[in-house]
Amino acid sequence: MDKFGLPARYLGTQRKSVWEEYVQLAADYNPLDLGQGYSDFLPPEHIISALDQVVKNKNVLLHQYTRGCGHPRLVSVLSKLYSRFIGRSINPNTEILISAGAYGALYCTIMGHIDDGDEVIIIEPFFDCYESMVVTAGGTPRFVPLRFNNNSSSELKSSDWTLNPEELENAFNSRTKAIIINTPNNPLGKVFTESELQMVADLCKKWNVMCISDEVYEWLVYEPQRHVRMASLPGMWERTVTIGSAGKTYSITGWKIGWAYGPANLIHNLHVVHRNSIYACTTSLQEAIAIGYEKELDCLGQDNCYFISLPRQLEQKKNYMADFLSKMGMRPVIPDGGYFMVANWSSLEPEIDLSAENDKYKDYRFTKWLTKNVGIQGIPPSAFYSEPHKALAETLVRFCFIKQDEKLRRAARILEEWKATK
Ligand SMILES: Cc1ncc(COP(=O)(O)O)c(C=O)c1O
Repeated sequence: MDKFGLPARYLGTQRKSVWEEYVQLAADYNPLDLGQGYSDFLPPEHIISALDQVVKNKNVLLHQYTRGCGHPRLVSVLSKLYSRFIGRSINPNTEILISAGAYGALYCTIMGHIDDGDEVIIIEPFFDCYESMVVTAGGTPRFVPLRFNNNSSSELKSSDWTLNPEELENAFNSRTKAIIINTPNNPLGKVFTESELQMVADLCKKWNVMCISDEVYEWLVYEPQRHVRMASLPGMWERTVTIGSAGKTYSITGWKIGWAYGPANLIHNLHVVHRNSIYACTTSLQEAIAIGYEKELDCLGQDNCYFISLPRQLEQKKNYMADFLSKMGMRPVIPDGGYFMVANWSSLEPEIDLSAENDKYKDYRFTKWLTKNVGIQGIPPSAFYSEPHKALAETLVRFCFIKQDEKLRRAARILEEWKATK
């Protein structure tokens, strides 16, 4: 064996991620990018000026290491905020971890709990790092896909994708350690209902399983839907680690600050992993995010709260995108949450020639064709499925609509012009 080869625990996770591949594709063809999941407009002014003040602050300590498992001011405001929503008092020191984005928090959660032989149920579609983290930790993923249930020709909605109760129940057994669920879901935009979450919760309790609830899009939910936190359901606080992200909340994905909260016995395990890997995150960024959250906490539920104003702003962009995708012949799936829109492109198939692309899955061929021939980039949703289930997403494409109106108008024009040539 090669002395300097990759350790065995990483074998099987070496495939390039869809992000690496599609960032390169965008660099090569310079399309209008509706693929990457981040905004192309500035974050709210108050968060930028908070960071500006922090960076210029003469308090030496704001420029040095802070508490490893979370800057005191940030864990303090997060404990106040989430205590309100969970309906219990969350201890800022023992029940919260701040890490390097939600990614870091997921890593600490999975590494801190999954051992050789453990099974982890992952609901599909899923954020792609779940699978590789579980495998690296020695666990075995068991995938349960959301099933599409809409045979009518009416508008497609993210709530058309539902869990099959029997399929879900059959995935649990005595080796099951955890289940990972993402609500609001990337890429579908599905917001799990209370009864769906209750079904998962009942099985977690029955089989003594923990729930890793990735809620990074918690504030991006469209009326009349409501985000339900798994940890707020009866008996679930004790067994849930909830993941959040300042990057997603404030459109500051480049700041890479995220967190996990849950009961002290579970969060302790995350603290151990974090302390032995990342150790501490950037002090100034955590301080600025804390200032932002303090402002939001003061005006929670009011029009000037960013948690309210951002989804309102995005609602119009969502409707605009749904409209232009429909006009060019796709069937958009109207999301209840998040800032992605999945669309079914199969009706375009007779008009296009995908033969120049040789990828195994059709959505990869379609998105590459779209980038190279039309000049618009989307993401192939089969990347969010395990190998045996990728076919479920082959007729879909994912677009991101947290983009400036001008960019969305340009996308609409490009697609309209392409359609006119058909
Ligand atoms: C569902 C989901 N979880 C976690 C993350 C990672 O978030 P962060 O940028 O805070 O690491 C993302 C990013 O796209 C995501 O979509």
